[in-house]
Amino acid sequence: MAGRIAVIGSNNVDLVTNVPRMPGPGETLAGSHFATHFGGKGANQAVAAARLGSQVTMVTRVGDDSLGGDVLRNLGDQGIDLTHARVAEGTANGVASIFVDPSGENVIVIVAGANGTLTPADVDAAAEDLARCDLILLQLEVPLETVYHAIRLAQRIGVPAILNPAPAAPGLDLAQLHGLAWLCPNETELALLTGLPVTTGDEIAAAAQSLFAHGIGNVVVTLGARGARLVTADGVTAIPAIRVRPVDTTGAGDAFIGAFAHFLAEGEAPEQALAQAAGYAALSVTKPGAQGSYASAEEFAAFQRTTVQS
Ligand code: RIB
Ligand code: NA
Repeated sequence: MAGRIAVIGSNNVDLVTNVPRMPGPGETLAGSHFATHFGGKGANQAVAAARLGSQVTMVTRVGDDSLGGDVLRNLGDQGIDLTHARVAEGTANGVASIFVDPSGENVIVIVAGANGTLTPADVDAAAEDLARCDLILLQLEVPLETVYHAIRLAQRIGVPAILNPAPAAPGLDLAQLHGLAWLCPNETELALLTGLPVTTGDEIAAAAQSLFAHGIGNVVVTLGARGARLVTADGVTAIPAIRVRPVDTTGAGDAFIGAFAHFLAEGEAPEQALAQAAGYAALSVTKPGAQGSYASAEEFAAFQRTTVQS
């Protein structure tokens, strides 16, 4: 049965330029292609889960500009419930300026805009709907106090919360994550959060396990093309990556988290949910953009059949 997921987080419009290589300071380069895509970590994860079939509601703020209108229309087209998506008066929409090189690697500069105005009161206003969800999904492109507040509310209403602590935030306070069911950092975010080395597999496991003492239930460390590690009280499980030829890695992490949330909310065991998330993220890397590269449930099923055969 389709799970219910609430995403409390950001939305952006991504301004994407393809470059022959990353420019240096003071340099002017000719790019080969420009496009705007819908993005933002919150919206990306919401769209991934919705495309796979979850019922998704978003608590988010869009800009008081034409981009904000475009974002709302797009989220609505994806079947996402917008009861708690509002316009931030007098504020521009969040944007991300992105360079993508021929290897599919990217650099991103974000301007929070409306995302910076999402408050704890916005979370409280959605409390009744949040209580009806199977999962609450959080990232760090909205104010930290709003994220902390959402974690406390999730605990009070008994809904498990997943935090993807991205982008890496030096000010993130571990003490405020107490009671979180799932923390899903990449290696950089894990190192920043724990102050521990993460060079080897053993170090990654030890750093993830150190989070249990802070009241965090389970940890998923994403390792890009090297897959992921599931670290729970029961032990450490390696989740292999699916190999693909990268076109644009933008939003691949969000595809992974959104798909993980979808399969977890559907009732799958974490190992299975993560194995499928790895496949879903790999498929997204083979196409340009973030949300635009997220497969539907049918497309993903077809992709899984080809990867099983090869
Ligand atoms: O994680 C990818 C996203 O990060 C992009 O869509 C961009 O909006 C930035 O927020
Ligand atoms: Na992509």
